[in-house]
Formats: sequence, structure tokens, C-alpha cells
Amino acid sequence: MKLHQDVCKVLYTEKQLQQRVAELGAQITRDYQGEEVLMVCTLRGACIFYCDLIRHIDLDIKLDFIATSSYGNDTKSSGEVRLTKDLSSPISGKNVIIVEDIIDSGLTLKYLKRLFEARDAKSVRICSLLDKPEGRQTDIEGDYIGFTIPNAFVVGYGLDYAERYRNLPDVCVLDPRIYAK
Ligand code: IMP
Ligand code: MG
Repeated sequence: MKLHQDVCKVLYTEKQLQQRVAELGAQITRDYQGEEVLMVCTLRGACIFYCDLIRHIDLDIKLDFIATSSYGNDTKSSGEVRLTKDLSSPISGKNVIIVEDIIDSGLTLKYLKRLFEARDAKSVRICSLLDKPEGRQTDIEGDYIGFTIPNAFVVGYGLDYAERYRNLPDVCVLDPRIYAK
């Protein structure tokens, strides 16, 4: 793929991603036996992970979508989280799993977790494909994590830099020369 020219390393291949996503789906299925779950996709970064994950969950689930913004076109969080698209339905009394692409500072998930708790969800858990613990500025932790990665800026499998590279099938480290420009 031509987009691969802009990356310095493939971190996880399509095949490795598929295997781990299936494991996460099986784990969620075991943990929520007999329960209904609302799977909330954080747009847009988690969309590919989300679509793969939900097909590995053998439970009565419902889907909803939310969007926040904190990065603009930068590789660092602005520190301020804004809701740009809200859920379609109330979540009071529901088990919610927030599906995220990556936890970095933790600010986005802290904001969403608080918001959902304030709306009286029965439970709120976090499922993130990637975790970058070195970037953390909050006490947020994921309940289901695909892979823990070092502090590099990654793209592909839904993750972007300035809205590009989401369609790379693998998770890759972006060449720093791209954002130094
Ligand atoms: P946080 O609020 O700093 O935890 O950032 C969460 C959001 O920042 C994620 O949902 C991603 O959209 C974005 N993000 C953080 N690190 C990366 C990265 O390495 N590549 C692409 N997006 C990232
Ligand atoms: Mg993003």
C-alpha cells in the first residue's frame, strides 16, 4: 500500500489485530453473561476496531456512537475535550462499554466516563485497542486493552494523523518526518 511509505514500522499486522480482537470479544462475552450491553463507539478512530469487535461478542448488545475532539490536527492533546456528537438514546440503567482506539492522556475517557456516570448508567467500562501509559495525565485505566504500546504516534486500523492513514490495515508508527513538516 502506498500509504505505507509514510510509516517507519508496522507494530501490529492485520492478522495480529484480528486475533487479539477475537480474544477481547470472547472475554467481554464471558464477563457479561446474561446481561445486555450497550457498545458505544467513539468516532472516528475506533470505528474499524468496533466493527470487528462487536462481531466477536455473543451477547444481546445494542450499538450507539459518540464523538469528541481534543487533538485537532496535532499529535498532542489540546487538553480540552469537546463533545461533537452525542449518543442517540438515554443510557440510564444500562451496562455501557466505551470502545476507544487508544488511551493516551486519558482525558477523553475521563470526560466520557464521568458523563455516562452522571447519566446513571448501571456500569461503565472501557475497551481500548491500544494503551499508551507513558502519556497518562489522569487516573483512567482501561478494563479491556488490546495492546500496550510505547510512546510513539501510531496510525492505521482507524487511527489517524490529521484524518489520514485510517485505512491502513495494520497499526503502524508514523514517520516523525511527516508531522515535523
Ligand atoms: P487522550 O484523550 O489523550 O487519551 O487521547 C485519546 C484520543 O487521542 C484517541 O481517541 C485518539 O483519537 C487520539 N490519539 C492519541 N494518541 C494517538 C496516536 O498515537 N495516534 C492517533 N491518535 C491518537
Ligand atoms: Mg483521532
